[in-house]
Amino acid sequence: MKSGLEDVIAAETKLSDVDGAAGRLIIRGVSLDDLVATSRFEDVAALLLDGLFDEHIDAASIRTQLGAARVALFPHVEAADAALLALPPVDAVRALLARVADGEDFATAIRLMAAPAVFLPAILRLQKGEAPIRPNASLSQSGDILRMLTGRLPTAEQTAGLDAYLVTISDHGLNASTFASRVIASTQAGLTSSVLAAISALKGPLHGGAPGPVLNMFDGVGKPENARAWLSQALDRGERLMGFGHRIYRVRDPRADALKTALKPIFASGQADAGRIALAEAIETAALALLKERKPDRPLDVNVEYYTALLLDALGFPRSSFTGVFAIGRTVGWIAHAREQTLDGRLIRPQSRYVGPLPKAA
Ligand code: ACO
Repeated sequence: MKSGLEDVIAAETKLSDVDGAAGRLIIRGVSLDDLVATSRFEDVAALLLDGLFDEHIDAASIRTQLGAARVALFPHVEAADAALLALPPVDAVRALLARVADGEDFATAIRLMAAPAVFLPAILRLQKGEAPIRPNASLSQSGDILRMLTGRLPTAEQTAGLDAYLVTISDHGLNASTFASRVIASTQAGLTSSVLAAISALKGPLHGGAPGPVLNMFDGVGKPENARAWLSQALDRGERLMGFGHRIYRVRDPRADALKTALKPIFASGQADAGRIALAEAIETAALALLKERKPDRPLDVNVEYYTALLLDALGFPRSSFTGVFAIGRTVGWIAHAREQTLDGRLIRPQSRYVGPLPKAA
C-alpha cells in the first residue's frame, strides 16, 4: 500500500507526461515551451480532445462553438442569488456548473468548457455589486473572459497572457482533480459529473488553491531590498515560502518559466506595475539562495503558482478568483481524461486493506 498512491501508475494516457526529474511537461507529443509559443486556448483544446469524440475537432470550430455556448449559457447567471454569491468564487462557479445537463457528447464538452468562462467573470462582478457583461461570441475564449471581467476589450498582450496561462495549465498528468475526473468517468456518470468532481478536488489548498498567498508574500516583502530579511524570518517561524517546491518536480517547474515569459510583454508595455516584476525577481533570487542554505538536501525551486499570481493579478483577476481561473483552463484536461477513461471502459475500483478489529469468535 502506498500512502497517497505516490509513484503508483493508475492509468495509461496519451494526453500528457510530467517528467519531474528533467522538469519537462509534454502535452500530446508537444513540449510545453513550444505549445505556449504557438498556441491559443482553442488550439490546445483541439489538441487534447482530438480523436476522443465522434466529431472532427479543429481549433476554428472549437472557437465558434465555444462562442455560441458562452452566449447560450449566460442566462444561467440569473440563478446566482445572494446565498450563491456569498460563496468563494470557485464554489459559486461549481454551483452554477451543476446546472449543465450531464452527457457524454462533444456538445456537453463544449458547454462545460464555456460555462466557467462565463460564470466566473459574472460572479466576480455580481459580488462587487456590478452587472454581469453579456458574452461576445465573436471573440476568442481568452479575449471574451477578460472583456466580461473588466468591461473593456483587452489588449493583444493581455489576451495573449491569458491564453498562455490557459494553455500552460490545460493538463498535467494524473493530478488529484484529473484522477477524480477519471474515477467518475469510469462509472459512466457523464462529463458534467466528472468536471464537478474535479473542481471539488481542485479547490483544496493542497492542489489548486495557493497562488493567492504568493501575492500576500509580495505585499509582505514590499521592496526588493527587504526580500532576504523577510523571507529569512518567515523560514525562522517554520513557514513555507509560497510558490516554491513541488511533489513531482525536483527542478524548476517548466510552467513557471512559460508564465514568466508570457507576462513580460504585459509589464514591458506598461500595462502592469513594472515594480512588481522587479520585486518578484528579487524575492525569487533571495528565496532560492535561502532554501539552498536551509534545505541543502531538498531541491526546492519555483513552481507554477509563483508566476501565476503575478500574471493573473496583472490581468485584473482578484486573488480570491485564482482557483476559479485555474478551473477554466483545466476543464479541457479533465474532459479529455474523462473521455479517455470512458473509452477504456473499465470501472476504477481499487481495493483497501482492512486493518480494523475482527468480529469476536462465537
Ligand atoms: N518553503 C520552505 N520549505 C519547503 C517548501 C517551501 N515552499 N516546500 C518544501 N519545503 C521543505 C519542507 O519543510 C520539508 O523540509 P523537512 O524535510 O526539513 O521537514 C521538505 O522541504 C520536504 O517537504 P514535503 O512537504 O515533503 O514536500 P512535498 O513534495 O510534499 O511538498 C508542496 C510539495 C506542498 C508544494 C510544498 O513544496 C509546499 O508546501 N510549497 C509551498 C506551497 C506552494 O507553493 N504550493 C503550490 C504548489 S504547485 C501546485 O500544486 C499546482
